[in-house]
Amino acid sequence: MCGIIGYLGGREATPILMESLKRLEYRGYDSAGVAVLELPKNGAATRTSVTKSEAKVDTLIEKLNANMPTGKLGIGHTRWATHGKPTYINAHPHTDCHGKIFVVHNGIIENFAELKAELKAEGHEFPSETDTEVVPHLIEKYYKGDFLAAVRAALNRIQGAYALAMFSSDDPELLVGARLNAPLVVGLGDDEYYVASDITAIIPYTKRVLVLGEGEVAAVTPLGAEVSTLDGVTVKPKIVHVDWDVTQAQKGGFAHFMLKEIHETDEAIANAMRGRLTDDGLVAFREFEASEEELKKLQEVVLLGMGTSLHAAMIGEHVLEDWVGIPARAMDASEFRYRRPTFGEHTLSVVITQSGETADTLVALHQARERGALTVAVTNVIASSAARDSDGAIYLHAGPEIGVASTKTFNSHLISLYLLAMRLAQANGRISLERRRELVEALRALPDQVRTLLGRDKEILALAHKYSQYRNFMYAGRGLGYPVALEGALKLKEISYVHAEGTSGGELKHGPIALLDEQFPVVAICTASSTKEKMVSNVHEIVARQAPVLALVSEGDSSLNGVATDIFEMPAVEEASSAILNTVMLQLFAYHVATKLGQDVDQPRNLAKSVTVE
Ligand code: AGP
Ligand code: GLU
Repeated sequence: MCGIIGYLGGREATPILMESLKRLEYRGYDSAGVAVLELPKNGAATRTSVTKSEAKVDTLIEKLNANMPTGKLGIGHTRWATHGKPTYINAHPHTDCHGKIFVVHNGIIENFAELKAELKAEGHEFPSETDTEVVPHLIEKYYKGDFLAAVRAALNRIQGAYALAMFSSDDPELLVGARLNAPLVVGLGDDEYYVASDITAIIPYTKRVLVLGEGEVAAVTPLGAEVSTLDGVTVKPKIVHVDWDVTQAQKGGFAHFMLKEIHETDEAIANAMRGRLTDDGLVAFREFEASEEELKKLQEVVLLGMGTSLHAAMIGEHVLEDWVGIPARAMDASEFRYRRPTFGEHTLSVVITQSGETADTLVALHQARERGALTVAVTNVIASSAARDSDGAIYLHAGPEIGVASTKTFNSHLISLYLLAMRLAQANGRISLERRRELVEALRALPDQVRTLLGRDKEILALAHKYSQYRNFMYAGRGLGYPVALEGALKLKEISYVHAEGTSGGELKHGPIALLDEQFPVVAICTASSTKEKMVSNVHEIVARQAPVLALVSEGDSSLNGVATDIFEMPAVEEASSAILNTVMLQLFAYHVATKLGQDVDQPRNLAKSVTVE
C-alpha cells in the first residue's frame, strides 16, 4: 500500500528518514510519522522520539526540524489508510503498552480483530483504530528478552499482508524487517543499512539490496543483515544491484505508472478479498455491517458511477441479478440526478468511485440518500467524501493508483461487487453452499491467473503493435463481455486518442456494423459464456464486411480458427473471472497501442485522475 523506511548506521537517522519519506510521497498517502531511538545523554535512559503528521510529509518535516531527534536507529512511514481514518492517532509508528516496541506497517492484518480481542482481554490497550496496532502488542506479549524471537512468534500468529519495519528500545543496534504479501527490501550501504517498502526510498544511498522472500525476516545490525524464515531457518538472500534512477524506481522499473499498476492487479484483487471471504463463501465487510434483516428487505439495487466505475457498475448489475435474483440497474450518475425518483427505503444504492470524490457520483449519492435508500460506497480511499456520506463502505485496499487511466482499481471494483452479491445472496438464502464454494475457488484462483496472463505481455504487445496502424476500433461483447467491451474501448481511446467504441454483439446489426470495413477492426470478446455462440455468429457477420477481428476466446475453443484475423486464448473460467482476465488483457493491449503511438499514457490530455467538478 504505502511507504516504509528504516535506518541503522553511523549517521543521524532523522535526516535520512525525512529525505526518504519525501521520495515516497509520489505514491500518495494520507498521513506520516517517524520513530527515532535517541541515545542516552548524560546517563539518562534511552528514549524514543515519535513524531507524526495527520497531513503531509512537509508538516512532519517542519515538526522534526523544530526539534530534531538524534539517534542512529529510526523508522518512518507514509500511510494509505485501510483500517481507521487518516488521523494523528492512527498514523504510524505504533507502539506497545510500555512504549518500547515501535512498528510501521504496509498491508492488511486480516485477523486483527480476533488478535485485538485476545490482547485486550490480557490488558493491552489500543488508542488507535488500526489493524497495525496489534503487531507491537503481540510482540510485547511474546517478548522475553529476545526481540527477534518475539517478532517471529508474533508474525506466526498474523494472517494477511504485511511489510514491516520495527525496533525495540531494549535493542538499540537491531532493526527488523519482515514481509508477507507486500514488498520489502534491505538496502546495504557502507556500514549502514536500510529497510524499505520501495527501492525509491533508498536509491540515493545504495543500489545494493536484499530482496526479502515471502514470510522472511531480516535482522539488521551494524554487522550486516541476517535473513531467516519465521521458524528461524537461515536464508541466503539474493543481493541485487539496482541501476535505476529515482524516477525509474518510483515506477518499480516499469516504463509508466499505468503499466506498473496493471502489474499490481494480482495483489490488488487479493487485497480486495483479504479478511472478507471464508472457505464456505460467507462474506463480511467491516465497514458495511448491514444486518441480515436490513439486507433481506432490499427489493432492488441501483449502482451509480462514471467512466470506468460505471462499467464496473454494469458488471455489478448483471452479477447481482444473476446471483441474488433481485432487480439491479447501473446508471450513469450524472444522468441519475435528473431522473424521476423511483425508489425508496427498500433500495440499496451502491456508489462506485475509486477516488471517492467524483462530483457527479457524489451528487447522485446525496440524492439516493434523500430518497431513503441504504447507501454503500465502493471506493479506494478511506474517509473519502463518498465513504463519509454513505451508510457504509467497501474499501478496495488496492493501494494508490497514480495513472489517470483506471486499471487495477477497476478489477478491485469487480471483486468488491462480486463479494457484495455473495453477501446479498447469503442474506436472502439464494445461493447454495456448493455454489458459494465454487465461487470461492474461482475468486481465489484469480490472482495466480492474472499473474500468468501478465506473463504473456509480449504476445499482447505484438498484437497491439500490429493493430496500432488503425485509427478506429469497435469492441464487441455480450453479457459481462459487453461492459468489458465498453471498458476496453474507453481504455484505448483515453490513452491513445484513437477512436474506439464499445457495443453489444446484438446491437451491431442495428447500426454500428455500417462502420465496419477493412480499416475498422473489431475486438470481439468470445470467451466462454451463455452467449458465446451468439458472439461467434457476430464475428462471422463482421468478417463478412472485411473488418479485421481480434477475438478473445477460451482455451481449447477452435470455433473461430480460420475466421477471426487474430485469436488470443484466455483461461476457460467462470464468466465473472473472465470479466477480470479479459479486462487485464485489454488494458495491456491499450497500453501498448498508446505507447507505440508515443502518447503520455500516465497523464493523457484533457483528463484528470479525479473529476471533482460536475
Ligand atoms: C477511467 O480510466 C477514467 N480515469 C475515468 O473514467 C474514471 O473512471 C471516472 O472519472 C470515475 O472516477 P472515480 O472512479 O474516481 O469516481
Ligand atoms: N492497514 C494499515 C493501516 O490502515 C496500513 C496501511 C498502509 O499500508 O499504509 O494503518
